[in-house]
Amino acid sequence: MKTILKPSAVLAALLALLAGHAPGALAQSAPQISKGQQFFQKVCAKCHETGIGPVITGRGLPEATYVYMARHGLNAMPAFRVTDIDDATLQELAKYLSATQPKP
Ligand code: HEC
Repeated sequence: MKTILKPSAVLAALLALLAGHAPGALAQSAPQISKGQQFFQKVCAKCHETGIGPVITGRGLPEATYVYMARHGLNAMPAFRVTDIDDATLQELAKYLSATQPKP
């Protein structure tokens, strides 16, 4: 079997990163935080707290902006379907992010 790195392998790695719900993964999170906040930390933060995407916390962005961006994507920002994150969880995520304060 050949072991050259194919573009599909890179894509698979990205999808694995985006999927972010390996069995038991959520169970390790602190129980206090909402599902929306967990989704941010497990998925969105992988780009948005690492410099891959712009900072999206503490900017006073409206909730609708987060919902729109998550559902539609933009350039390198992937779109998330209802099967990735349901409406209730996305709403929770948007409410949480919209209320975050700028880092000092
Ligand atoms: C694979 C990396 C990646 C992931 C995962 C990701 N984003 Fe993004 N996001 C980006 C990039 C890159 C941009 C900039 C897109 C552009 O302007 O071309 C962006 C832009 C945005 C913007 C607009 C910010 C601005 O200043 O214009 C919002 C809001 C946003 N993302 C929300 C989210 C949310 C919510 C999630 C999780 C559900 C998420 N993103 C997950 C990469 C990502």
